[in-house]
Amino acid sequence: MTDFEFSTAEIAELQAGEVLLSPKYVSVDPYLRGRMSDAPSYIPPPFEINKPIVSGAIAEVLESKDESFSKGDFVSGMLEWKETQVAKAQSLMKVDADKAPLSAYLGVLGMTGLTAYLGLTEIGKPKKGETLVVSGAAGAVGSIVGQIGKILGMHVVGIAGTDKKLDMLKSEFGFDAGINYKTTKNMNEALAKACPNGVDVYFDNVGGEISDAVLFHINKFSRTVNCGSISVYNNTELPKSISVQPFLVKKSALMQGFIVFDFADKHPDGIKQLAEWLQQGKLRYTETVKEGFENIPQAFF
Ligand SMILES: NC(=O)c1ccc[n+]([C@@H]2O[C@H](COP(=O)([O-])OP(=O)(O)OC[C@H]3O[C@@H](n4cnc5c(N)ncnc54)[C@H](OP(=O)(O)O)[C@@H]3O)[C@@H](O)[C@H]2O)c1
Repeated sequence: MTDFEFSTAEIAELQAGEVLLSPKYVSVDPYLRGRMSDAPSYIPPPFEINKPIVSGAIAEVLESKDESFSKGDFVSGMLEWKETQVAKAQSLMKVDADKAPLSAYLGVLGMTGLTAYLGLTEIGKPKKGETLVVSGAAGAVGSIVGQIGKILGMHVVGIAGTDKKLDMLKSEFGFDAGINYKTTKNMNEALAKACPNGVDVYFDNVGGEISDAVLFHINKFSRTVNCGSISVYNNTELPKSISVQPFLVKKSALMQGFIVFDFADKHPDGIKQLAEWLQQGKLRYTETVKEGFENIPQAFF
């Protein structure tokens, strides 16, 4: 908390093509961790000391000098952590407060939902009856991936760090089985039991040893979707990992990384599909909300 400072600054005068915004929700996501150093991150650029943090946000339009937006509209965009700010209209997208709660546009109908949907469908190429394993399964992305897997008729196994989370995955989100990576002594045996037909799609949010264990269970022509590697984000040295190539060759398997913005052209259709499932009650989500601008730094903890 001592790393943050609150300060007051003049607001620049609104120019043509700009809007004045009051943020309602800002999002705290794992990619912010990568931007805390100068090392290349999957969402550049790095944060600058003494400059406001920028993250996904939902804001209300207070004043507009652009014909695409009017006072009272709600928008989403990458915004500074400021109580009031000026932004370029072209960097913003209108969101519909009548269709879903505003905060959902930062989660299930925002970056995390799109990451889950596009990563799974575009790279995972899921098929009915196949087995999907999701690591970081109780997180914002993982919980949506698993639910989409169920909607598409897959056998879905989630890996998470507490029994409470595993219960939630099964009772709230419809996962078929769960593995607690913190208490399970033999991940190999646990995966064999949870995936009797092997693994066709592995949606990897965590990397490291958990993902190494899954490699031993991938099927011929399986697809591994490298979404994130949260287990190694704090590492200061390159992690030691088993060599993946022999597994991929033996199984004619695919392993592909991606960034949600790679599929920017598919975002509008993705949001439409996610909103439809949400309205039909097929998708559920949980969120943690801290109230108050002054409490944003606490959301990191
Ligand atoms: N490629 C992209 O475009 C893109 C976009 C968004 C997010 N991501 C990545 O997707 C992943 C998930 O993001 P999210 O928004 O779902 O995050 P989140 O809601 O913060 O969830 C992250 C989950 O990771 C688990 N975790 C934390 N440390 C771990 C460790 N050392 N080993 C194993 N699991 C660990 C936590 O659960 P447990 O209690 O179960 O450990 C937590 O549920 C992250 O790696 C993020 O960087 C990628």
